[in-house]
Amino acid sequence: MSDFAFVPKHLGLIMDGNGRWALSHGLPRTDGHTRGMVNMISVASHAFDMGVKTVTCYSMSTENLNREKSEVDHILSLVIKYFDPFLEAFRQKRVCAKFVGQLELLPEEIRASLKRTEEQLKEFEDLGRTIYIAIAYGSRTEIVNTVNSLIEKGKAVTEQDFQSSLSLPHNLDLVIRTGGESRLSNFFLYQCAYAELYFSDKFFPDFGERELDEALEWYAGRSRRYGLVK
Ligand code: FPP
Repeated sequence: MSDFAFVPKHLGLIMDGNGRWALSHGLPRTDGHTRGMVNMISVASHAFDMGVKTVTCYSMSTENLNREKSEVDHILSLVIKYFDPFLEAFRQKRVCAKFVGQLELLPEEIRASLKRTEEQLKEFEDLGRTIYIAIAYGSRTEIVNTVNSLIEKGKAVTEQDFQSSLSLPHNLDLVIRTGGESRLSNFFLYQCAYAELYFSDKFFPDFGERELDEALEWYAGRSRRYGLVK
């Protein structure tokens, strides 16, 4: 249970700095991504323990797909290599998983693994705890695709219609970006409209439970006004 008065319902993680973490330890960049995967499972699990209901992780942007093939292949292979630990961790927490992004750009065997992961955790769908993993994701593309799908339906668009048609139909409350950069990098721009933004200089593999607790404590001290005067 959480020690904090205000826990974000929906936490976003922009997991930056895997490559620099690896290089700073004299390791290949790919080792940084492996550590990042292990850390993603443990930090998200801790977030659920603290009372967060939804965790959305940015694991690969559409731009990241243009990196060297060996690095892209390595990151994607983690989906298969860590299939069991991922399932075990989130089954234990009774969390369902959803993968969002242009999944059609991914190799068939990766798509099949994502689908199987979703299916294996589907039984927890109605319990209110979800981990979203964004892969081959870009927010501008998501927005434009959503607009086009609504136009096809010939509907006048309200904010509610629009939001419920997005691949991630929930507002973010807190977004944490590791790795020292202070930008959103095309991460769920619509859903971040009122999110509190927390930037950490730690590389993602070094951002553990203690660091997450510090971020949650910072969030608990924020006064969220949604544009009103309080
Ligand atoms: C950004 O760090 C991180 C990524 C592009 C990959 C993030 C992937 C994981 C945390 C593993 C989880 C993966 C899946 C598929 C679920 P960077 O490489 O840009 O770091 P740098 O800025 O130090 O170079």
